[in-house]
Amino acid sequence: MKVLIATEKPFAAAAVEGIRKEVEGAGHELALLEKYTETAQLLDAVKDADALIIRSDKATAEVFEAAKNLKIIVRAGAGYDNIDLAAATAHNVVAENTPGQNSNAVAELVLGMLVYGVRNFYNGKSGSELMGKKLGILAFGNVGRNVARIAKGFGMEVYAFDAFCPKDVIEAAGVKAVDNQEALFETCDIVSLHIPATAETKNSINYALVNKMHKGGILINTARKEVINEAELIKLMGEREDLKFITDIKPDADADFAKFEGRYFSTPKKMGAQTAEANINAGIAAAKQINAFFANGDTKFQVNK
Ligand code: 3PG
Repeated sequence: MKVLIATEKPFAAAAVEGIRKEVEGAGHELALLEKYTETAQLLDAVKDADALIIRSDKATAEVFEAAKNLKIIVRAGAGYDNIDLAAATAHNVVAENTPGQNSNAVAELVLGMLVYGVRNFYNGKSGSELMGKKLGILAFGNVGRNVARIAKGFGMEVYAFDAFCPKDVIEAAGVKAVDNQEALFETCDIVSLHIPATAETKNSINYALVNKMHKGGILINTARKEVINEAELIKLMGEREDLKFITDIKPDADADFAKFEGRYFSTPKKMGAQTAEANINAGIAAAKQINAFFANGDTKFQVNK
Protein backbone atom coordinates (compact mmCIF):
# COMPACT_ATOMS: atom_id res chain seq x y z
CA MET A 1 0.00 0.00 0.00
CA LYS A 2 1.18 3.54 -0.69
CA VAL A 3 0.98 5.92 2.27
CA LEU A 4 1.35 9.61 1.44
CA ILE A 5 2.25 12.31 3.94
CA ALA A 6 0.93 15.60 2.52
CA THR A 7 1.75 18.58 4.72
CA GLU A 8 1.83 22.24 3.77
CA LYS A 9 3.31 22.79 7.24
CA PRO A 10 5.75 19.86 7.49
CA PHE A 11 6.27 17.57 10.45
CA ALA A 12 9.61 17.76 12.25
CA ALA A 13 12.17 15.57 10.45
CA ALA A 14 12.25 13.12 13.38
CA ALA A 15 8.50 12.62 13.03
CA VAL A 16 8.80 11.82 9.32
CA GLU A 17 11.50 9.28 10.13
CA GLY A 18 9.30 7.73 12.83
CA ILE A 19 6.39 7.50 10.39
CA ARG A 20 8.67 5.96 7.76
CA LYS A 21 9.82 3.29 10.22
CA GLU A 22 6.24 2.35 11.08
CA VAL A 23 4.95 2.38 7.51
CA GLU A 24 7.89 0.58 5.88
CA GLY A 25 8.13 -1.80 8.85
CA ALA A 26 4.60 -2.93 8.03
CA GLY A 27 5.60 -3.51 4.42
CA HIS A 28 4.04 -0.37 2.94
CA GLU A 29 5.59 2.35 0.80
CA LEU A 30 5.94 5.96 2.03
CA ALA A 31 5.68 9.05 -0.19
CA LEU A 32 6.17 12.62 0.92
CA LEU A 33 4.71 15.92 -0.28
CA GLU A 34 5.83 18.80 1.93
CA LYS A 35 5.44 22.58 1.73
CA TYR A 36 3.26 22.36 -1.35
CA THR A 37 1.94 25.71 -2.52
CA GLU A 38 -0.73 24.75 -5.07
CA THR A 39 -3.76 22.50 -4.66
CA ALA A 40 -2.79 20.96 -8.01
CA GLN A 41 0.34 19.48 -6.38
CA LEU A 42 -1.80 17.79 -3.75
CA LEU A 43 -4.30 16.52 -6.32
CA ASP A 44 -1.47 15.03 -8.33
CA ALA A 45 0.24 13.42 -5.33
CA VAL A 46 -2.93 11.73 -3.99
CA LYS A 47 -3.75 10.04 -7.33
CA ASP A 48 -2.24 6.66 -6.40
CA ALA A 49 -2.21 6.91 -2.59
CA ASP A 50 -3.98 4.21 -0.59
CA ALA A 51 -3.61 6.14 2.67
CA LEU A 52 -3.08 9.80 3.45
CA ILE A 53 -1.61 11.54 6.50
CA ILE A 54 -2.30 15.28 6.77
CA ARG A 55 -2.17 18.08 9.34
CA SER A 56 -4.36 21.18 8.77
CA ASP A 57 -4.25 20.49 5.05
CA LYS A 58 -7.63 20.81 3.39
CA ALA A 59 -9.07 17.46 2.31
CA THR A 60 -11.85 18.71 0.07
CA ALA A 61 -14.28 16.83 -2.16
CA GLU A 62 -11.84 17.58 -4.98
CA VAL A 63 -9.08 15.73 -3.13
CA PHE A 64 -11.28 12.66 -2.56
CA GLU A 65 -12.33 12.77 -6.20
CA ALA A 66 -8.67 12.74 -7.31
CA ALA A 67 -7.60 10.05 -4.83
CA LYS A 68 -9.08 7.07 -6.64
CA ASN A 69 -7.27 4.44 -4.52
CA LEU A 70 -7.70 6.15 -1.15
CA LYS A 71 -9.05 3.98 1.65
CA ILE A 72 -8.06 5.92 4.76
CA ILE A 73 -7.12 9.51 5.65
CA VAL A 74 -5.68 10.36 9.05
CA ARG A 75 -5.49 13.90 10.34
CA ALA A 76 -2.40 13.84 12.58
CA GLY A 77 -3.94 16.03 15.25
CA ALA A 78 -7.22 16.67 17.00
CA GLY A 79 -9.38 19.02 14.93
CA TYR A 80 -10.72 17.48 11.72
CA ASP A 81 -12.72 20.46 10.46
CA ASN A 82 -10.31 20.51 7.49
CA ILE A 83 -11.69 17.20 6.19
CA ASP A 84 -14.87 17.13 4.12
CA LEU A 85 -16.34 14.18 6.00
CA ALA A 86 -19.36 13.82 3.71
CA ALA A 87 -17.03 13.57 0.72
CA ALA A 88 -14.85 11.02 2.54
CA THR A 89 -17.90 8.91 3.31
CA ALA A 90 -19.23 9.26 -0.24
CA HIS A 91 -15.90 7.92 -1.55
CA ASN A 92 -15.82 5.09 1.01
CA VAL A 93 -12.79 6.54 2.77
CA VAL A 94 -12.31 6.08 6.51
CA ALA A 95 -11.40 9.43 8.13
CA GLU A 96 -9.58 9.43 11.47
CA ASN A 97 -7.85 11.85 13.83
CA THR A 98 -5.25 11.18 16.53
CA PRO A 99 -6.87 12.63 19.66
CA GLY A 100 -4.65 13.70 22.54
CA GLN A 101 -1.35 13.22 20.74
CA ASN A 102 -0.43 16.90 20.48
CA SER A 103 -2.45 18.35 23.34
CA ASN A 104 0.41 18.95 25.78
CA ALA A 105 2.21 21.07 23.17
CA VAL A 106 -0.85 23.29 22.71
CA ALA A 107 -1.40 23.53 26.46
CA GLU A 108 2.20 24.58 27.12
CA LEU A 109 1.86 27.31 24.50
CA VAL A 110 -1.29 28.58 26.21
CA LEU A 111 0.55 29.08 29.48
CA GLY A 112 3.53 30.60 27.67
CA MET A 113 1.28 33.08 25.89
CA LEU A 114 -0.47 33.82 29.18
CA VAL A 115 2.76 34.76 30.95
CA TYR A 116 3.58 36.92 27.92
CA GLY A 117 0.16 38.57 28.18
CA VAL A 118 0.14 39.36 31.89
CA ARG A 119 3.72 40.69 31.61
CA ASN A 120 2.58 43.20 28.96
CA PHE A 121 4.23 41.40 26.06
CA TYR A 122 7.61 41.84 27.77
CA ASN A 123 7.64 45.60 27.23
CA GLY A 124 9.55 46.22 30.46
CA LYS A 125 6.58 47.67 32.34
CA SER A 126 5.15 46.23 35.54
CA GLY A 127 2.70 43.41 34.87
CA SER A 128 0.88 40.89 37.00
CA GLU A 129 1.20 37.27 38.06
CA LEU A 130 -0.86 34.23 37.23
CA MET A 131 -0.93 32.85 40.77
CA GLY A 132 -4.39 33.29 42.26
CA LYS A 133 -5.96 34.37 38.95
CA LYS A 134 -9.11 32.66 37.73
CA LEU A 135 -8.61 30.74 34.51
CA GLY A 136 -11.65 29.59 32.54
CA ILE A 137 -11.27 26.68 30.16
CA LEU A 138 -13.92 26.45 27.46
CA ALA A 139 -14.20 22.75 26.56
CA PHE A 140 -12.56 20.17 28.75
CA GLY A 141 -11.07 17.84 26.15
CA ASN A 142 -7.47 16.70 25.91
CA VAL A 143 -6.03 20.21 25.51
CA GLY A 144 -8.29 21.75 28.15
CA ARG A 145 -7.29 19.08 30.67
CA ASN A 146 -3.59 19.67 30.04
CA VAL A 147 -4.08 23.43 30.38
CA ALA A 148 -5.80 22.80 33.74
CA ARG A 149 -2.94 20.58 34.94
CA ILE A 150 -0.26 23.14 34.10
CA ALA A 151 -2.29 26.15 35.32
CA LYS A 152 -2.69 24.51 38.71
CA GLY A 153 1.11 24.37 38.90
CA PHE A 154 1.08 28.15 38.50
CA GLY A 155 -1.33 28.38 41.46
CA MET A 156 -4.26 29.48 39.31
CA GLU A 157 -7.89 28.86 40.26
CA VAL A 158 -9.19 26.78 37.37
CA TYR A 159 -12.78 26.73 36.09
CA ALA A 160 -14.23 24.91 33.09
CA PHE A 161 -17.34 24.50 31.05
CA ASP A 162 -17.92 21.76 28.51
CA ALA A 163 -21.32 21.14 26.95
CA PHE A 164 -20.44 17.47 26.45
CA CYS A 165 -18.44 16.63 29.57
CA PRO A 166 -20.28 15.85 32.83
CA LYS A 167 -19.57 18.20 35.74
CA ASP A 168 -18.32 15.39 37.97
CA VAL A 169 -15.58 14.54 35.43
CA ILE A 170 -14.43 18.18 35.50
CA GLU A 171 -14.58 18.33 39.30
CA ALA A 172 -12.68 15.03 39.59
CA ALA A 173 -9.77 16.78 37.84
CA GLY A 174 -9.72 19.38 40.62
CA VAL A 175 -11.38 22.00 38.41
CA LYS A 176 -14.52 23.99 39.25
CA ALA A 177 -17.32 23.24 36.81
CA VAL A 178 -19.66 26.11 35.91
CA ASP A 179 -23.13 25.81 34.37
CA ASN A 180 -22.59 27.49 31.02
CA GLN A 181 -20.11 29.49 28.97
CA GLU A 182 -21.62 32.81 30.08
CA ALA A 183 -20.80 31.92 33.69
CA LEU A 184 -17.24 31.05 32.68
CA PHE A 185 -16.69 34.48 31.10
CA GLU A 186 -18.37 36.23 34.06
CA THR A 187 -16.29 34.40 36.64
CA CYS A 188 -12.80 34.29 35.14
CA ASP A 189 -9.94 36.76 34.62
CA ILE A 190 -8.70 34.77 31.66
CA VAL A 191 -10.59 32.49 29.27
CA SER A 192 -8.81 29.95 27.08
CA LEU A 193 -10.74 28.49 24.13
CA HIS A 194 -10.54 24.77 23.35
CA ILE A 195 -13.73 24.23 21.38
CA PRO A 196 -13.72 22.68 17.91
CA ALA A 197 -15.00 24.65 14.90
CA THR A 198 -18.50 23.30 14.31
CA ALA A 199 -21.74 24.79 13.02
CA GLU A 200 -22.68 25.56 16.65
CA THR A 201 -19.37 27.09 17.74
CA LYS A 202 -18.47 29.17 14.67
CA ASN A 203 -18.71 32.90 15.54
CA SER A 204 -19.91 31.96 19.04
CA ILE A 205 -17.23 33.98 20.84
CA ASN A 206 -19.00 37.26 20.32
CA TYR A 207 -19.45 40.75 21.77
CA ALA A 208 -22.06 39.77 24.37
CA LEU A 209 -20.04 36.84 25.68
CA VAL A 210 -16.60 38.44 25.91
CA ASN A 211 -18.14 41.62 27.35
CA LYS A 212 -19.11 39.55 30.40
CA MET A 213 -15.44 39.49 31.44
CA HIS A 214 -14.54 41.85 34.21
CA LYS A 215 -11.90 44.57 33.93
CA GLY A 216 -8.55 43.41 32.57
CA GLY A 217 -9.92 40.23 30.98
CA ILE A 218 -7.72 38.18 28.66
CA LEU A 219 -9.03 35.94 25.88
CA ILE A 220 -6.68 33.22 24.59
CA ASN A 221 -7.45 31.33 21.40
CA THR A 222 -5.44 28.29 20.35
CA ALA A 223 -8.51 26.46 19.00
CA ARG A 224 -9.76 27.67 15.62
CA LYS A 225 -10.07 31.22 14.27
CA GLU A 226 -13.61 30.50 13.03
CA VAL A 227 -15.00 30.33 16.58
CA ILE A 228 -14.33 34.07 17.07
CA ASN A 229 -16.78 36.64 15.77
CA GLU A 230 -13.97 38.92 14.65
CA ALA A 231 -16.06 42.00 13.79
CA GLU A 232 -17.77 41.90 17.20
CA LEU A 233 -14.52 41.33 19.11
CA ILE A 234 -12.92 44.27 17.28
CA LYS A 235 -15.91 46.45 18.21
CA LEU A 236 -15.67 45.37 21.84
CA MET A 237 -11.91 45.88 22.09
CA GLY A 238 -12.44 49.35 20.62
CA GLU A 239 -14.88 50.13 23.42
CA ARG A 240 -13.04 48.36 26.24
CA GLU A 241 -9.40 49.36 26.51
CA ASP A 242 -8.82 46.86 29.31
CA LEU A 243 -9.28 43.70 27.23
CA LYS A 244 -6.47 41.64 25.71
CA PHE A 245 -6.71 39.05 22.93
CA ILE A 246 -3.88 36.58 22.36
CA THR A 247 -3.90 33.85 19.74
CA ASP A 248 -1.70 31.50 17.75
CA ILE A 249 -4.16 31.55 14.85
CA LYS A 250 -3.94 34.74 12.87
CA PRO A 251 -7.47 36.14 12.51
CA ASP A 252 -8.69 37.15 9.05
CA ALA A 253 -8.88 40.71 10.43
CA ASP A 254 -5.33 40.60 11.82
CA ALA A 255 -4.59 44.13 10.55
CA ASP A 256 -7.61 45.52 12.42
CA PHE A 257 -6.71 43.71 15.63
CA ALA A 258 -3.11 44.91 15.28
CA LYS A 259 -4.37 48.45 15.94
CA PHE A 260 -4.89 47.41 19.57
CA GLU A 261 -1.22 47.75 20.30
CA GLY A 262 -0.17 46.21 23.59
CA ARG A 263 -3.50 44.35 23.85
CA TYR A 264 -3.30 41.99 20.89
CA PHE A 265 -0.77 39.36 19.94
CA SER A 266 -0.82 36.71 17.23
CA THR A 267 1.96 34.33 16.24
CA PRO A 268 2.94 34.53 12.55
CA LYS A 269 1.68 30.98 12.01
CA LYS A 270 -0.42 28.46 13.93
CA MET A 271 2.08 26.87 16.24
CA GLY A 272 0.35 25.24 19.21
CA ALA A 273 1.20 21.73 18.03
CA GLN A 274 4.43 22.77 16.33
CA THR A 275 6.88 20.83 18.52
CA ALA A 276 9.05 17.82 17.71
CA GLU A 277 7.31 15.83 20.45
CA ALA A 278 3.79 16.61 19.25
CA ASN A 279 4.73 15.89 15.63
CA ILE A 280 6.31 12.59 16.60
CA ASN A 281 3.36 11.55 18.78
CA ALA A 282 0.67 12.53 16.27
CA GLY A 283 2.62 11.38 13.20
CA ILE A 284 3.49 7.97 14.58
CA ALA A 285 -0.03 7.50 15.93
CA ALA A 286 -1.34 8.24 12.42
CA ALA A 287 1.05 5.68 10.90
CA LYS A 288 0.10 3.03 13.49
CA GLN A 289 -3.60 3.65 12.89
CA ILE A 290 -3.09 3.19 9.15
CA ASN A 291 -1.11 -0.02 9.72
CA ALA A 292 -3.85 -1.35 12.03
CA PHE A 293 -6.50 -0.48 9.45
CA PHE A 294 -4.69 -2.35 6.68
CA ALA A 295 -3.75 -5.26 8.95
CA ASN A 296 -7.13 -5.96 10.52
CA GLY A 297 -9.65 -3.31 9.51
CA ASP A 298 -9.24 -1.37 12.78
CA THR A 299 -11.28 1.86 12.70
CA LYS A 300 -11.16 2.83 16.39
CA PHE A 301 -10.48 6.50 15.67
CA GLN A 302 -12.87 6.89 12.76
CA VAL A 303 -14.71 10.24 12.78
CA ASN A 304 -17.01 9.69 9.76
CA LYS A 305 -18.91 6.69 11.12
C1 3PG B 1 -5.00 20.12 16.06
O1 3PG B 1 -6.17 20.25 15.71
O2 3PG B 1 -4.51 19.03 16.35
C2 3PG B 1 -4.14 21.34 16.23
O3 3PG B 1 -4.84 22.49 15.93
C3 3PG B 1 -2.83 21.25 15.48
O4 3PG B 1 -2.93 21.54 14.14
P1 3PG B 1 -1.66 21.57 13.15
O5 3PG B 1 -1.28 20.18 12.86
O6 3PG B 1 -2.15 22.29 11.96
O7 3PG B 1 -0.55 22.32 13.82
